[in-house]
Amino acid sequence: MKVTVAGTGYVGLVTGVCLAEIGHHVICIDVDEAKIKMLQEAKSPIYEPGLEEMLSKNIKKGNIFFTTSPEYAYSNCEIIIIAVGTPEKPDGSANLTYIEAVSRKIAENIQQDSIVVIKSTVPVGTNDWINNLIQTNLQNRHFVEVVSNPEFLREGSAISDTFNGDRIVIGSSSKYSGDIVEAMYTSFNRPILRTNIRSSEMIKYASNAFLATKISFINEIANICEKLGANIEDVSTGIGLDKRIGKQFLQAGIGYGGSCFPKDTKALVQLAGNVEHEFELLESVIKVNNHQPLLLIQKAKEIVGQLEGKKVAVLGLAFKPNTDDIRESASVVIVNQLIENGAIVYVYDPIAISNVKKTIGESVKYCSTIDEAIGDAELTFIGTEWSEIKKYPVINYKRLMKTPMIFDGRNCYDLDEMKNHGLVYVSIGREAIL
Ligand code: UGA
Repeated sequence: MKVTVAGTGYVGLVTGVCLAEIGHHVICIDVDEAKIKMLQEAKSPIYEPGLEEMLSKNIKKGNIFFTTSPEYAYSNCEIIIIAVGTPEKPDGSANLTYIEAVSRKIAENIQQDSIVVIKSTVPVGTNDWINNLIQTNLQNRHFVEVVSNPEFLREGSAISDTFNGDRIVIGSSSKYSGDIVEAMYTSFNRPILRTNIRSSEMIKYASNAFLATKISFINEIANICEKLGANIEDVSTGIGLDKRIGKQFLQAGIGYGGSCFPKDTKALVQLAGNVEHEFELLESVIKVNNHQPLLLIQKAKEIVGQLEGKKVAVLGLAFKPNTDDIRESASVVIVNQLIENGAIVYVYDPIAISNVKKTIGESVKYCSTIDEAIGDAELTFIGTEWSEIKKYPVINYKRLMKTPMIFDGRNCYDLDEMKNHGLVYVSIGREAIL
């Protein structure tokens, strides 16, 4: 099939490349000329395991093309997938400016019957609004219908998630348009759920909100475990063995970050508010998450007193491992708190440093190894559970730090093993070793 993907961010680019991989003829369009130029040269603007290889392979096969021209992208395709960003507005609601701009361009340039698929996360009701916008601005008399098809891939495992996802959700107002979108996905061989448009839009928000709720729930249980002498790892395992609960997303830590959970939870609260429903449960989930990184700083202060003038290392800055994305990263919250408290902060991350430089600038010292970051430090905070950090020999903290005190926000190390090392080790939801 001939498919155009609008937006070459995480979702758009991965979707485009994966659709090319299964044999569709794909055109990806973006307004960012520099990005398109990189992509034409088979270079990925984002770090995502396996993406660049698949991109290069499909460019060579002639399955995927990149352009900034709406005329070229929208005039000759059966399916147009909109995957542009819906960033957060100051009031927490979703900003639909990019969606609106793309929809207008589509309406102006369509030259044949097309299905417009909305993959961007949009508030319930937005697909209807986009449909109206396109129909009223259509320059040529062609059949166009909007279909909702939310995305569930995760950064860091985006390609594998696309090929092995738990489900594909297709929300359509007619069987005809839903069937066309379903046909595009046949080779993925994944379970497909067909719904109406609004249910499909809601599935996306409800999924992210539920996962965020699981994380805030386990973090609260962890905070209580610390006070009652229970161990959160055992508690998570114990409750996760109940199949009705499931073991995933029960890893306690300093909270969820990234470009989705923080934004989508706030947007859902807004959306509920718009229909006069106060979503108190989700409001609490957000509150717990905002507080969670601060608790680790508080624990450090209780042990060492003021942080002013102390050399502090922060290991791991990305919002989770296997990505260079630091948007809403809980680790970056910790870094900012440390700076505010007057600490001298040394940071290390395997790949996210250049993104941190863009936001935090020169208020911290950037290190290219863990050894360099923790050398002579009085405290070390761990913000991301990179495998390099998990595998790092614990003995080195004792050898290199001035005073070996570790505040582990991601429970990277085995508690019993840490007891043998003679250092201060404070983690989440587990006994503090002092
Ligand atoms: C999330 C969803 O998992 C995807 O299904 C969805 O498609 C995506 O948002 C989106 O809406 O685009 P992502 O943001 O890439 O994916 O990352 P996750 O792997 O879900 O992790 C989110 C945050 O939760 C990370 O900061 C992670 O450290 C934290 N987390 C996750 C925990 O603190 N504990 C856990 O047990 C799991």
